[in-house]
Amino acid sequence: MQRELAEVTGAEQVGAYTLLRVQRGKIEPGIPGQFFMLEAPGRPLPRPMSLCLAPPGELAFLIDPIGPGTRALCALQPGDRPAILGPLGNGYRLDVERPLLVGGGIGVAPLPYLSDALGHPPAILGFRSDCHAEAAHLVPNAKVVVEPTYVTEVLSPGQDVLACGPEPMLAAVAKLEPTAQLAWEAPMACGYGACYGCAVEIDGEIKRLCVEGPVLAAEAVAA
Ligand SMILES: Cc1cc2nc3c(=O)[nH]c(=O)nc-3n(C[C@H](O)[C@H](O)[C@H](O)COP(=O)(O)OP(=O)(O)OC[C@H]3O[C@@H](n4cnc5c(N)ncnc54)[C@H](O)[C@@H]3O)c2cc1C
Ligand code: FES
Repeated sequence: MQRELAEVTGAEQVGAYTLLRVQRGKIEPGIPGQFFMLEAPGRPLPRPMSLCLAPPGELAFLIDPIGPGTRALCALQPGDRPAILGPLGNGYRLDVERPLLVGGGIGVAPLPYLSDALGHPPAILGFRSDCHAEAAHLVPNAKVVVEPTYVTEVLSPGQDVLACGPEPMLAAVAKLEPTAQLAWEAPMACGYGACYGCAVEIDGEIKRLCVEGPVLAAEAVAA
């Protein structure tokens, strides 16, 4: 885990989202599904972001501007230097035989890097509008559905599902595919186990999602 002020090299609009590129420096990209804490200059707290892409010499994050922290990150310009800490948490297990990537909304964010690591397996991506669905071009080999169709309506059983998306989508995927690996979200202040801001109850115990997750086995959550 490394903390650096990383120079922004670009910020592109991808439909409703921003793809923020920064110089990699000494920061390792980590395992797909791990995350980084990103802090825009002048902002009081960092925000957790999954690594989206790891081109040579760069790290790229796909960001949905839903509040002040994410809007500040999306407004960064080349030459700005956000603080980056990571990689953090547990990523996806990559020892799967028949991978199927499943993403909902900004849950598409970790899938391009995951797809590269697994040799571009099939993916199913769901979005709320055609504008949000423009992010699907970042994931090779993807089938795209737009609401009112949901990813679970086109998911056939018997595959090794690796998913990221909103909680109701993850719960529905877990029911269909109990061996799925699911990347969960919780508000995070530190990202490395110190604040308990991300505590969730799993299997009757309080666990810190930034340490135990964000990727968890569906069985662990259902138990
Ligand atoms: C491990 C992890 C990886 C993530 N990866 C990405 C990513 O790649 N791209 C991306 O755009 N976002 C990602 N997120 C979500 C992102 O961190 C939050 O949207 C962001 O922190 C919101 O900050 P804000 O200041 O913009 O909005 P805030 O004002 O903090 O929040 C806006 C609204 O969203 C709710 N909220 C905030 N954070 C979360 C959260 N984590 N889970 C559920 N609800 C929340 C708040 O309660 C509030 O209603 C990730 C979150 C986690 C935990
Ligand atoms: S975010 Fe601080 S303990 Fe998880």
